[in-house]
Amino acid sequence: MVDIGKAGTFTLGSHTVRRLGYGAMQLTGPGVFGPPSDRAGAVAVLREAVQSGVDHIDTSDFYGPHITNQIIREALHPYRDDLVIVTKVGALRGADASWLPAYSAGELTQAVHDNLRNLGLEVLDVVNLRIMFGIHGPAEGSIEAPLTILAELQRQGLVRHIGLSNVTPTQITQGRRICEIVCVQNLYNLAQRADDALIEALAGDGTAYVPFFPLGGFTPLQSTTLSAVALALGVTPMQVALAWLMQRAPNILLIPGTSSVAHLRENLAIAELRLPAETVTELDRIAGGGDPH
Ligand SMILES: NC(=O)c1ccc[n+]([C@@H]2O[C@H](COP(=O)([O-])OP(=O)(O)OC[C@H]3O[C@@H](n4cnc5c(N)ncnc54)[C@H](OP(=O)(O)O)[C@@H]3O)[C@@H](O)[C@H]2O)c1
Repeated sequence: MVDIGKAGTFTLGSHTVRRLGYGAMQLTGPGVFGPPSDRAGAVAVLREAVQSGVDHIDTSDFYGPHITNQIIREALHPYRDDLVIVTKVGALRGADASWLPAYSAGELTQAVHDNLRNLGLEVLDVVNLRIMFGIHGPAEGSIEAPLTILAELQRQGLVRHIGLSNVTPTQITQGRRICEIVCVQNLYNLAQRADDALIEALAGDGTAYVPFFPLGGFTPLQSTTLSAVALALGVTPMQVALAWLMQRAPNILLIPGTSSVAHLRENLAIAELRLPAETVTELDRIAGGGDPH
């Protein structure tokens, strides 16, 4: 079995976690809505992840809704002491699977209690406040009101640490005036590099950066350069994309999502993959254009 410890560790709240984690969003039906077609398969993916040394799982009660957390509980409860489950609040699902902002005190309190109940926990280790101001990415606007409510739930002892998701640097600065921010979860991958400067800044502060859609999410990364590099190294394009992120900055924690044990194994195997410097330079050109990704 691959030693995922070789990918290194980083601080996340009060734990030191392995930099290779797992994102549980794929364990639902299509459109992150309803039950998965293979619930036993979903349970198997989670168990294999933890048995392989994954100690950081990303989730939310709005995946399903509720279903992903219930599957995590079924697969892994009682949880290992070293397992960090990171969840997020700030949205609700409509009956038509839409994503609706949910920032009122009542909605955020309910979301924290829903996560606690469905995960079978008394305290949530890390909760990201998911900001929904922009449709396709972060957009400026004050996060003071919802973050103050979440910080109050932290003071009540229901939440240990707070992170932010889909935010701008200005919002992170504003957030830090309200409470400690232990991680930032934004869209970032080989082709989507708007957060390059932010990642450096957070690395300097010792704050974890957790890219969502590390493999491109609903539109998986495709690039002739990526495919050529993978072929030359004898690995898959997705493995190259993850290895590139690992080498991008020491504060990056990976949470690739998959509903397949075979893909999980492939993703964890990158713990032992090192990209040569000239390969990284070649891959860096993908986001710069000139490659039909
Ligand atoms: N904060 C936010 O707003 C936000 C938004 C989106 C996601 N997230 C979090 O980020 C995590 C990761 O994002 P994601 O799951 O949406 O996207 P992702 O990790 O970029 O990609 C997942 C997709 O890649 C496929 N895949 C995974 N491993 C593969 C492999 N080795 N080879 C080929 N295909 C592979 C999966 O299909 P298979 O199931 O077939 O493997 C799935 O379609 C989520 O699980 C969630 O926890 C957060």
